[in-house]
Amino acid sequence: MGSTDYRSGYGLGADVLFDVDLARQVLAASWFFVGTRGDVAQPKDTFTFALFDDEYTLVHGIDGTIRCFVNRCAHQSARLFSGPTGRTGERIVCPNHQWTYASADGRLLRATGMPDGFVDGPDACRHGLDQIAVREVAGMVFACLGDDPDEAHIDEFGPILAPYTDPFGLDRGGYKLAAHHREVVDANWLLVMVNNRECCHCRANHKGLCKLFDPSSFNGATTPAYQALFDRAIERWEALGLAWQEQPFAPNDSVRVARYPMQDGFDSITFDGAPACAKTIGPFETHDQSTLSMWFNPNAWVHFTSDHIATNWVLPIGGERCALYTSWIVHEDAVEGVDYDLDHLMDVWLVTNAEDVGLCQSMTAGARSAYYRPGPFAPDEQFCTQLCDWYMHRASP
Ligand code: FES
Ligand SMILES: [Fe+2]
Repeated sequence: MGSTDYRSGYGLGADVLFDVDLARQVLAASWFFVGTRGDVAQPKDTFTFALFDDEYTLVHGIDGTIRCFVNRCAHQSARLFSGPTGRTGERIVCPNHQWTYASADGRLLRATGMPDGFVDGPDACRHGLDQIAVREVAGMVFACLGDDPDEAHIDEFGPILAPYTDPFGLDRGGYKLAAHHREVVDANWLLVMVNNRECCHCRANHKGLCKLFDPSSFNGATTPAYQALFDRAIERWEALGLAWQEQPFAPNDSVRVARYPMQDGFDSITFDGAPACAKTIGPFETHDQSTLSMWFNPNAWVHFTSDHIATNWVLPIGGERCALYTSWIVHEDAVEGVDYDLDHLMDVWLVTNAEDVGLCQSMTAGARSAYYRPGPFAPDEQFCTQLCDWYMHRASP
């Protein structure tokens, strides 16, 4: 099946799923999620991620701006940053021969062994660090690989998110990265996202998660019991002045926002229902049994609770390999071992994502079959259709 054979309401063809050049083209024409201000909470903090054959590093500049540099020295291409997270200074120094760059703009400041005048010479601009476009919206960071990113599209994110995210003030700081987990997964990144966009697999595969949430919350279905839970939550949210109406990939086709009640007895996204962190965040002075959830095309799902923020996102490395990132962000004054326990904080997403990884590896293997043909999505899998429509729209120049 070629991309011209795509049929809305069905999955993507194998030639689309595994086409790395097409994925690169889509990510050069679209904004994708690459973390939050909480991942690089303090000036000089760095956060490195992989995409295709490259590495990129978010740097929280001393001027407060978050930039994204290609993790490659302009001299002999050594990595400048090692490890997922770290610290840099006003100057970024390559560990190989100590070429030195300004962290504010990537400009080359010092080039060991090069002739006098090299740094200030006419070609100096060719020897700075490469950057890709980033935009911060409500404390969340989006990047684009292209030279001419669609600014008008991302300009719409802020006004949509603001009624939900402003009370948390993630863009204003006050948070810290409590924990981060990443793994390279032998699965196709788009199938990971398709899996994320429906919860029809949840009852059979996420026994733990389903104790926290009624699966109907993720699919838009409504049972009387769930409606009653939701109505009680609306009363609490409205008393706090919090927006709760769902924005279902409209008016912008890359953003979905919804507030969900958790089941009675669950104060946070933890298996035992106990708070994940004693210190509440944003508009909450006491723990609230709910999440503010956001889904971003093409690659992220994010959950704000009353005591932490959990981000999950995926990026392709190859056709059958991707990297899955999860961060847990808490109040900057929260103390590990006092206000939160790392295992307790991380458990739900570590377990749930591991369950999904198994499914996504299985789906990837099946999509490689000579018998593969895209299957139809059920009505409750409407957001899978939305994702595939989104991708095919951007894959067609
Ligand atoms: S490779 Fe970076 S200074 Fe030589
Ligand atoms: Fe899942």
